[in-house]
Amino acid sequence: MRIGAVGESLLERLAVRLRLGPRPLLETHGTVLLAQAVMVATRAGVFEALAAGPLGAAEVAARCATATRPTAALLVVLETARYVRSAGGRYALAPDARRWLLADSPNSLRENVLFRFTEWPWIAGLDRFLASGRPLDIHAAMSPEQWGAYQRGMRSLATVLAREVAWRTPVPRQARTMLDLGGGHGHYAAALCGRHRALTAVVLDLPEALAQAPAPDGLGGRIEFRAGDARAADLGAAAFDLILASNLLHHFDPAQGRDLVRRAALALRPGGVLVVQELFAPATARTGGQLGALADLYFAMTSESGTLSVAEIAVWQREAGLRPRRPLRFVTFPGAGQQSAVKP
Ligand SMILES: C[S@@+](CC[C@H](N)C(=O)[O-])C[C@H]1O[C@@H](n2cnc3c(N)ncnc32)[C@H](O)[C@@H]1O
Repeated sequence: MRIGAVGESLLERLAVRLRLGPRPLLETHGTVLLAQAVMVATRAGVFEALAAGPLGAAEVAARCATATRPTAALLVVLETARYVRSAGGRYALAPDARRWLLADSPNSLRENVLFRFTEWPWIAGLDRFLASGRPLDIHAAMSPEQWGAYQRGMRSLATVLAREVAWRTPVPRQARTMLDLGGGHGHYAAALCGRHRALTAVVLDLPEALAQAPAPDGLGGRIEFRAGDARAADLGAAAFDLILASNLLHHFDPAQGRDLVRRAALALRPGGVLVVQELFAPATARTGGQLGALADLYFAMTSESGTLSVAEIAVWQREAGLRPRRPLRFVTFPGAGQQSAVKP
């Protein structure tokens, strides 16, 4: 997947082909403004205002307590981005906004979009990172409010993927116990426990993450939240049938990642499975697409790491005495997947 200049008419498509369109302008000025438009509209409640039915710009402004003229201009931008549609001077939600941006949609990414406000200054620090090579270490620097936005943002992303994770994760038959490393919001543990009735879970995460009060799991107390640092915590020996590390290893340097895989292998029972779930690094920049490359840069500047390849993870798993399985690619999240390995 990539972001870029897309001609909207035959002439414009031709202009893009012939390199006549000012691509760098679109990809800097245009993308920054579009990002802010979607973020601000989400935070101001524009999409929620339109949930019940079409409204004129002045009515949207009145419901959101915003000024009419900028609200009208914002709605036009949102229409070009296909989040709203207009007819007879009234705006209605388009399917993408209804699916992704309404708070009560089962696929809501609203909280994830709001997390962009926390990420914005981090991303604006790219030049500082480029010059110094020193990443931010976001987990050491966030305020409680930022931790809240982070956890809600990750949870909303997990909501989109949880169904596929619950169905496709290779949970061993007879599995009783799982450990969710860096499992924060507990949504994946809940999805897996929901599908596998005999499973109980321990969700291990940093205390700052768990302080953001995970929602009650509704699973009869089958999920225990435990505060700890996965880089140092005692994971036990032969204690779990399933260990999930979802979007965690990209925060660690390679030595820490390799060591965590080794300790996770020790913590598995024979027949147990270690599942590493990540937005994987592409084999080459050409095959990986732009989003993979952007994710790699983002993880590098925020955590001193980057995206990992399935091959790299499989090597760590093999070194730890596990038998890697074929990687699994998610349908609901292109680029993301699981690299699992079984303990013989
Ligand atoms: C990108 S989020 C992923 C959350 C969840 N696993 C998911 O996939 O949606 C990374 C999580 O790892 C946690 N984390 C980061 N460093 C950690 C550490 N050293 N020990 C335990 N958890 C950590 C963060 O607090 C956060 O909840």
